[in-house]
Amino acid sequence: MRSPSNSERRPWVSLLIWGWRLEIGLGVATLIVLALSTRFGAFGPFLMVGIIFLVFRLRPDLFDQLRAILRERRHERWVHGAFWHCAIVGRNGEIPRVERSASLPVGWRYLIALPPGLHLEALKSRAPELAAALGVREVRLKGLAQSAHYVELAVIWSNAFPREIASPLLARETFSLWEPLELGVGEDGLAVAIGLPEHNLLIGGEPGSGKSVALSTIVGAAALDPSVHMTLLDGKHVELAAWSLVADRFVGSDQDDAVDALEELRGLMDLRYAYLVATRRRKVSPHDLEGLHVLVIDELAFYLRGGKKETRERFAELLRDLVSRGRAAGIIVVAATQKPSHEIVPTWIRDLFSYRLAMRCTSSDASDTILGQGWASQGFSAATIDPALRGVGYLLAEGGVPVLLKTPYLSDEEVDELALRAFEQRGM
Ligand SMILES: Nc1ncnc2c1ncn2[C@@H]1O[C@H](COP(=O)(O)OP(=O)(O)O)[C@@H](O)[C@H]1O
Ligand SMILES: [Mg+2]
Repeated sequence: MRSPSNSERRPWVSLLIWGWRLEIGLGVATLIVLALSTRFGAFGPFLMVGIIFLVFRLRPDLFDQLRAILRERRHERWVHGAFWHCAIVGRNGEIPRVERSASLPVGWRYLIALPPGLHLEALKSRAPELAAALGVREVRLKGLAQSAHYVELAVIWSNAFPREIASPLLARETFSLWEPLELGVGEDGLAVAIGLPEHNLLIGGEPGSGKSVALSTIVGAAALDPSVHMTLLDGKHVELAAWSLVADRFVGSDQDDAVDALEELRGLMDLRYAYLVATRRRKVSPHDLEGLHVLVIDELAFYLRGGKKETRERFAELLRDLVSRGRAAGIIVVAATQKPSHEIVPTWIRDLFSYRLAMRCTSSDASDTILGQGWASQGFSAATIDPALRGVGYLLAEGGVPVLLKTPYLSDEEVDELALRAFEQRGM
């Protein structure tokens, strides 16, 4: 990239005309129509304006379409202008072209075609400069898997992470756990959803980072699905207690009871497998009568660290079995832990969780313990999350790249309200 020389300024002139092509075209067309209308006498132009006005009155959708197109053009000129002012041009002085645009809840996003000489990484390093030229909060650039010729430019002008995000569950009477579950809102303000069936989710982060709040979204969704069974283990006892009235089993800070609950669940898993074999199927489906069974564990460290050694080991062994074999049998494990260290979450357990959510951690090592080795060094470390931003974390889904999100907040009253709603739905 370099500054365009004088001889290369021509594209700017053509850009100016090209950028205003629609407006110029519309203006010229209007003038021609008005000129022609004088053939019908002095009232001709008034008549024409009246007809145009009437058409837009009768077809307001046409008017809206025209307004949307003009708005897009304005955006296009705005982005092109910023590229030009930052001298972000290709080898021939050509400016990246806006191919398409769409609004985001917190800004706008553009599909940009790159001229020869420009590439994603070069553009990324200029992002702060581009944001300053556009006068916005931030710009983000993302490559497209299909072609390196295109990049997606997200222009963000308001904060995607307000203090509290209302839970979409509050507007629901019932929920199906087979449908995508909105775990939070991403940096672009769009919902980030996960599909829980056949997956397990591990949440880690320092105390107060928002693990229990994240769990409440999952438990709430599961609770609102009357076909879903729930086993809740809560090392602190108070975090999940409100849901106990809709759970098949609730275990507080009692390790023997926890082992017993996991034994019971393993028995159920074996039964389900026997049933699947008998009906010649590989996995449970939404049409099965048994429904999904969600095992939620808050404060995993409590069960894996404290108490008698043999109880701990039995718990770890049962958990490993459920996480590794439970998926096809419709058993979903969701576990949260603070102090994510290798003793609590050994790699072989971590790797069995296909979804991992790292809320703020004290170190990059802790973040890597949840997300997987190497992510911190690639710029995805939950240690970099602002401690004031509660409920924010990196979500890693199978085979993807971690995405930053903020979970919705459910107050104690809202949890009670949802638990009661779920209780009524279940006709308990
Ligand atoms: N998504 C969120 N939005 C707003 N505030 C949150 C959110 N998540 C957590 N908090 C705040 O942080 C506090 C601690 O959250 P909690 O889930 O109990 O943390 P942890 O379980 O990680 O110790 C909550 O009481 C709440 O005030
Ligand atoms: Mg907690």
